[in-house]
Amino acid sequence: MKIIAFVLSFALMLSSAFADDAALTKLLKDNKCEKCHKVTALGLADAKGKAPDLSHLSKDATGYEKGAKAWIQGWLKKEITKGGKKHAMAWKGSDADLGTLADGLIELDGRK
Ligand code: HEC
Repeated sequence: MKIIAFVLSFALMLSSAFADDAALTKLLKDNKCEKCHKVTALGLADAKGKAPDLSHLSKDATGYEKGAKAWIQGWLKKEITKGGKKHAMAWKGSDADLGTLADGLIELDGRK
């Protein structure tokens, strides 16, 4: 029985990671992030240009005193600057989607 429970919980874990990845990928595509950014952890590798790979966050995000989520949300709304510069593109979607996107990028950054 224990083994069955283990296999089941593992399968559930995998399927939820997949659902999150699919949702995050859709948000990144719908909002055109992947035109500039690679996200190699999600297999988005076509972007040209100098934007960083969003598979990992920089210290600007993770070292922010209010935490990476607040940083990402503020950065994408062009309320927070980085070295005196604003993000290349202003967020046009909903606040709820921006929250989901920020959570997804933080989760991705936490993976090895
Ligand atoms: C027009 C090109 C362009 C588009 C479109 C774009 N970005 Fe960026 N983004 C950049 C560039 C360039 C940087 C690097 C800025 C810097 O480091 O000064 C950046 C930086 C970032 C960072 C900071 C990364 C870090 O770890 O410091 C995040 C997060 C980010 N972008 C998310 C997004 C998301 C989410 C979208 C889609 C809603 C998006 N970007 C769309 C060009 C773009």
